[in-house]
Order: sequence, then structure tokens, then C-alpha cells
Amino acid sequence: MNKKTVKDVSFQGKKALVRVDFNVPLADGVVQDDTRIRAALPTLNHILEDGGSLVLMSHLGRPKGGPDPKFSLKPAADRLSELIGKPVQFVSDCIGDEVKAAVDSLQPGGILLLENVRFHEAETAKDDSCREFAKQLAQWGDLFVNDAFGSAHRPHASVSGVTEFLQPSVAGFLLEKEIEYLVNATTDPERPFVAILGGAKVSDKIGVIKNLLPKVDALLIGGAMAYTFMASEGKDIGNSLVEEDKLDEASELLIDAEESKKNEMLIPVDHVVAEKLEANTPSEVVRDIPDGKMALDIGPKTREMYCEWIKKAKTVIWNGPMGVFETPPFHEGTEAVAKALADSDCMSIIGGGDSVSAINKLGFADKVTHISTGGGASLELLEGKELPGLTSLTDRD
Ligand code: 3PG
Repeated sequence: MNKKTVKDVSFQGKKALVRVDFNVPLADGVVQDDTRIRAALPTLNHILEDGGSLVLMSHLGRPKGGPDPKFSLKPAADRLSELIGKPVQFVSDCIGDEVKAAVDSLQPGGILLLENVRFHEAETAKDDSCREFAKQLAQWGDLFVNDAFGSAHRPHASVSGVTEFLQPSVAGFLLEKEIEYLVNATTDPERPFVAILGGAKVSDKIGVIKNLLPKVDALLIGGAMAYTFMASEGKDIGNSLVEEDKLDEASELLIDAEESKKNEMLIPVDHVVAEKLEANTPSEVVRDIPDGKMALDIGPKTREMYCEWIKKAKTVIWNGPMGVFETPPFHEGTEAVAKALADSDCMSIIGGGDSVSAINKLGFADKVTHISTGGGASLELLEGKELPGLTSLTDRD
């Protein structure tokens, strides 16, 4: 990576303004999944051990531009305090006098978490107010650290805006690690290199497919988006989901893959179908999807074919479930892929909420190489796009 990181600067006696991604699920004011908070700990501990103090900022959810207790970061402050074993002071805004007083009295080794930056519309605004807001946030640190990989694709005030006013701006360990895995895997992969893409919509993944197709040895398609590809080949898909406006693009991608002869693009050859999407509803395995039924998972032949590719792969990127994983009996395709990855010693990189939760739920988290903390950010990287949260950081000399 050609950007400075926390290893390139000294934090001794400095206040580090750190953008973290504590956008975590909450219920009744309690953090339900602390993965993202844990993922920031190496950077936070490094800064504290190096003699610095922490002013942390994050967003949580998508509040409608004003304070809303449902989206308060207070529960994240409580959880961070438990995990890091130190008090975490929380302030109920991210700009203004209360914050200034808290920052001024922050001692080396102290930790302050500011309230949700999205309580101010300016955080995400596309006009000058965003720049002005970034300038106010930038006052709170002597230098800036971005460790919010999950938000690195957002050109927001607290992500990239502050870097205009606060230098150096460096990457934290999490941001660095995510970029290295996701970029290295796609630029110089050990082969065979296989990408497995699933999920509901072709439209969400079209950019990724276009970028990865020329780079992979095989691209395996699952999830509901497979049926748009099948429909584009004129196959019957019964009542399965289809994106009519993506049929032409889907067809072009299949033709490109066919013509390139360098790589394979596989779509399911059999399916688990049912009349409706409901837990434990009667289902059957078919090759041709009959009228009145919808395909809700990849079938056993497809699973076998995909798992064979995983077995021989040296690098695998997986994003998106193969079926309606959360509703049995349509979980088996996703489970088969997760298990094949856990059994393989290839470099395996998993992104996207549902694939990550499948890996976690099955207890395979420590059997894969890297689980990304970013959904949209990892997809944009895989599309080959630049991330504002990264490009705005200080270059290495
Ligand atoms: C995420 O959960 O993907 C990130 O925190 C970004 O959230 P956003 O999509 O609301 O910007």
C-alpha cells in the first residue's frame, strides 16, 4: 500500500482523531455483534501503547439528519470499554463546546467516543456544508487515522473530508489489512483463482462480475441472481426472481465468458424449488424449473460442481449466499460452499453480510483466511473502484 499507516507516525503525546466503523447492530441499547469493534482494537491499542490518546468518531445506521436515540453510539462506547479494559468517555455530539471541553481535558491514554456523525446532515451532504463540518471535526486531533474500512467507499466528512484539514492522515491496521487481502487477491492471485458470487440481485454484482471475470479461472454464480442469467439464456425459471432490465447485460456477460475460453462462468445446473418462500415448506430438487415454482437454492449437482472448484482453487473470493440461507431447507447450498472453504487450505476471502454470517453461524470463522468487515466497501474494491477513504490518505514518501 502506498499510503502512510499508523506504523509510520509517532503518537507520543498526540491526540489521534480516529474514524472507526462502529456501525453495529443494536437491540434494546445493547450491541448484538461486536465484530467491527473488535476489529478496531489493534489500531486503538497501538496508538495508546505509543503514548497517544483517542478521539473516536463513527456513524451508526442511517438517521434522518438529526439526533435520534435509536442510533446513538453510547452502546458502542460501553462495549468498547469492556473489550479494551479501560473507561471510554462518551460525548453526546461530535462538534461544539461539550466536545471541545472533553477533547481539551483528554489525557494521554484517554479514550473519547463522539456521538454519531450522521446526526448532522452535513456529514453526508454533497455541498460546502460537508467541507465546513469536516473542518470542525478535524479540530479534535493532532493527526487523523482512518480505520473504518466498512465506510471507506463513502466520500463523507468524517471519512475523507477531514483529511483536507488534518495531516498526516494515515491508515489503521484494519484498513491496511482489508486492502491488502482484497487488492492482492485480485491483482496477483495464486491460481486457480475462483470467485463465488451470490445474493439476490445481478444489479448489485454486475460491476464485480465485469471486473473479476477477466481475472479469475472460474466465476461461480448462485443465489437469486442466477435466475436472471438463466432467463437471459431463454431457460424456464418458473416464478423465480428475475431482473428484467438486466437480461441483456447478463446475456452479454455469459457470451463474453464463453468467447474468452480463458475462464469459466458457471450458473446452477439444478435447483431446490418450492411454491413459496417459507420455512420448512415442501421442496424438491429439479433440473428444469417448473411453472408455479421458484428456485430458492442451488441443487446437489451444482453444489458438487462448485465444491470441486473450491477444492482445486488456491485463491477464493466469496460474496453472497447461494440460496435463502436463513430459511431452511434452502440453506444447504450456502452451507456446502462454507464447508468446502473451511476444509480447503486455499487463501479464502469472504465478504458480504450473509456469507459472513453463514461462516460465523457454522463456526468456520477461524478456518478461512480473511473475513471482510465491509459490505459495500468490499464490493466497490472488487469492482476495481477507488475508495475515497483510502485515496485521501497521506502518500508514503
Ligand atoms: C456498512 O455497514 O456497510 C457501512 O458501515 C456503511 O454504512 P452505509 O451503507 O450506511 O454508509
